[in-house]
Amino acid sequence: MKALVFRGPGRTAWQDVPDPAVKDAADAIIRVDVVTICGTDLHIIKGDVPEATPGRVLGHEAVGTVVEAGADVRTVCPGDRVLISCISACGRCRFCREGHYGQCRGGGGWTLGHTIDGTQAEYVRVPFADLSVHPLPASVDSRDGILLADIFPTAYEVGVLNGGVRPGDTVVVVGAGPIGLAAIAGAGLYSPGRVIAVDLAESRLAAARSLGADATASAAEEPEQLVEDLTEGLGADVVIEAVGVPEAFEMCTRMVRPGGRVANIGVHGKPATLHLEDLWAKNVTITTGLVDTYSTPMLLRMMAAGRLPSSPLITHRFELGQMEEAYDVFSRAADTGALKVVLGGSQHSEIIAPAQP
Ligand SMILES: NC(=O)c1ccc[n+]([C@@H]2O[C@H](COP(=O)([O-])OP(=O)(O)OC[C@H]3O[C@@H](n4cnc5c(N)ncnc54)[C@H](O)[C@@H]3O)[C@@H](O)[C@H]2O)c1
Ligand SMILES: [Zn+2]
Ligand SMILES: [Zn+2]
Repeated sequence: MKALVFRGPGRTAWQDVPDPAVKDAADAIIRVDVVTICGTDLHIIKGDVPEATPGRVLGHEAVGTVVEAGADVRTVCPGDRVLISCISACGRCRFCREGHYGQCRGGGGWTLGHTIDGTQAEYVRVPFADLSVHPLPASVDSRDGILLADIFPTAYEVGVLNGGVRPGDTVVVVGAGPIGLAAIAGAGLYSPGRVIAVDLAESRLAAARSLGADATASAAEEPEQLVEDLTEGLGADVVIEAVGVPEAFEMCTRMVRPGGRVANIGVHGKPATLHLEDLWAKNVTITTGLVDTYSTPMLLRMMAAGRLPSSPLITHRFELGQMEEAYDVFSRAADTGALKVVLGGSQHSEIIAPAQP
């Protein structure tokens, strides 16, 4: 089969690799119908994620069709259309028992496209299939459903819930890429008083406004001042970091009010400075997190009910074989306006599109 292989910092190739096979009775082999690229894939290619070693097939988000299920798989069978979550779960370890699947110690967690071969391929082996894929309701289109593989649960759990967004809050989202935009949508579910988006790219600030941001500011033009002006000098109740660079994290800690919360989502490859000399007396809470995906079933119900925005987040469509072109468009997002680039899907929708009631 063909797959997108990480060849070392700065290098990838869409090349022939062996087809995956069931290795464990809990595995499923899934034909990838729709796949996308994440900001985290770009971090891997930059060399920020050392556990992802050369030779790895990248990708941790997909919707596909089960083609083979190991003997122990109970909840899905060949032919089922499923969402492949970015997080796999053994279901048995302490962390899985507590719903913290991202921290799984039994061989799950974020493995796909990281420590085992991922979804940017024609087929993928998904471990612990019962707990790592979600059958998709007929009313959810595969190209929309893919937003639940990573960006919505991540933005919701690591941004909105860790940040403790409450009604009336002033919420600042730093970084208006797909994750930041999903955080803006997720924060909106809690009736915040005001959502302010900060980014360097005007196209992304425009997307933030279309997803519900009340105010936007360029990161290059002292956004701290805007936050100060809008909050009578206090700072924001919740600041969500959705970039993954030291400057962005440090900016978040300058924007938060005393007693407020900074929720870091970004994947960081370099140390950021924690200015405790300014923060120690401010009663600030800082959270970090890898997504657990415990919220995916709830988000899936919301998407099926039409209560999550999807089309504004999908800007480009490609065929699966256009992986390198899709990477090029995605990695030059400031020029191309790319948010989520989605590969594949047309043929699949023709096969399984549900009859309208
Ligand atoms: N914690 C998790 O579980 C998890 C899961 C998925 C993704 N992530 C991470 O979340 C982050 C966001 O993901 P994404 O897909 O939206 O990435 P992205 O690269 O598409 O978006 C980042 C945005 O930040 C903007 N930006 C860059 N420097 C900035 C600065 N100094 N100030 C303000 N904005 C700046 C960019 O213009 C861009 O719009 C990435 O670091 C990604 O790796 C984390
Ligand atoms: Zn991701
Ligand atoms: Zn586990």
